[in-house]
Amino acid sequence: MLVLGIETSCDETAAAVVSDGRGILSSVVASQIVHAEYGGVVPELASRAHMQMIVPVVEEALEGADKRYDDLEGIAVTSRPGLIGSLLVGVSFAKGLAYALGIPVVGVDHIEGHIFATRLSHPDARLPAMCLTVSGGHTALVRVDEWGAHETVGRTRDDAAGEALDKVGKLLGLGYPAGATIERLAAGGNPTAIAFPRAMLDSGDLDFSFSGVKTAARYRIDDLGRAPVGKELLDFLASFQEAIVDILVTKTIEAAERCSVVTISIGGGVAANELLRGRLGEEAARYGFEIAFPEKELCTDNAVMIAAVGDFMLSKDMDDGLSLDASARAG
Ligand code: KG4
Ligand code: ZN
Repeated sequence: MLVLGIETSCDETAAAVVSDGRGILSSVVASQIVHAEYGGVVPELASRAHMQMIVPVVEEALEGADKRYDDLEGIAVTSRPGLIGSLLVGVSFAKGLAYALGIPVVGVDHIEGHIFATRLSHPDARLPAMCLTVSGGHTALVRVDEWGAHETVGRTRDDAAGEALDKVGKLLGLGYPAGATIERLAAGGNPTAIAFPRAMLDSGDLDFSFSGVKTAARYRIDDLGRAPVGKELLDFLASFQEAIVDILVTKTIEAAERCSVVTISIGGGVAANELLRGRLGEEAARYGFEIAFPEKELCTDNAVMIAAVGDFMLSKDMDDGLSLDASARAG
């Protein structure tokens, strides 16, 4: 089945053409740079940028796949969770296009998209798997029993891990989003220079908290009376990144052990981080788990993963039709 995937839940306008849920014929991701100067996504600006970009991005995806609108057999669009105004642009466009073409349309959960990125990269990954989905909007541990059947066993009680990275990046004037910049600068710093707190490691459950480490970083800057510079900045970032990765890896291994899974996987923008991938890979091997990490391009927001979930739903004859609606909250 030839499926068009559309993703507009946050600040990326993305479209992809995928055949039979696995064959990536094209993938276009247009990141909105308009938010950089504000240090975070401005919802109104995001919706407006999606409206400007949706048609050119979809047409570029079709051209890249060498397909025409008439070739499409189904449409999959992110319908939750996310910024409601942004989601509505994708959902309205997808419904209109599906109606005009007389083909089915399904609404996809963004988190499920991040989980399906693992299936795209590792179709033979052995289940059950523990999937750490970690991005700017969410941080959760999801036990995947079968593709399409999963349960969230742990989640953040406050900030998402990427949000903590982005907020500290903003305090330091590193632009938005800051995760990749922090990773690059941290490579030149000493990760043991500052002992940032690791909250909830002994909480007895699988939940996360990142507001403590974020606040500790802010106090540290306040105490200095200025933003750290030079080697001081690199050490600060290396130590901060180390704390975030430490929390993520410790909880993921604990979740994998408790739920007796076979495989550990990751998804979401922060899963592009090399330190996290390396450390989680090492620990997983030490504890005897298999790993199935998607390529970095499939970890950050994209429409391929949405088309992959869509293909799965459409092949079960699902069709949300014109009643499809967007929801800011997780389903
Ligand atoms: O999944 P994603 O593209 O969008 C959301 O659904 O939020 O994730 C974006 C998040 C941002 O917080 C960004 O700072 C973070 O992922 N990020 C990274 C890296 N690349 C993106 N964090 C750490 N290291 C990276 N290399
Ligand atoms: Zn995401």
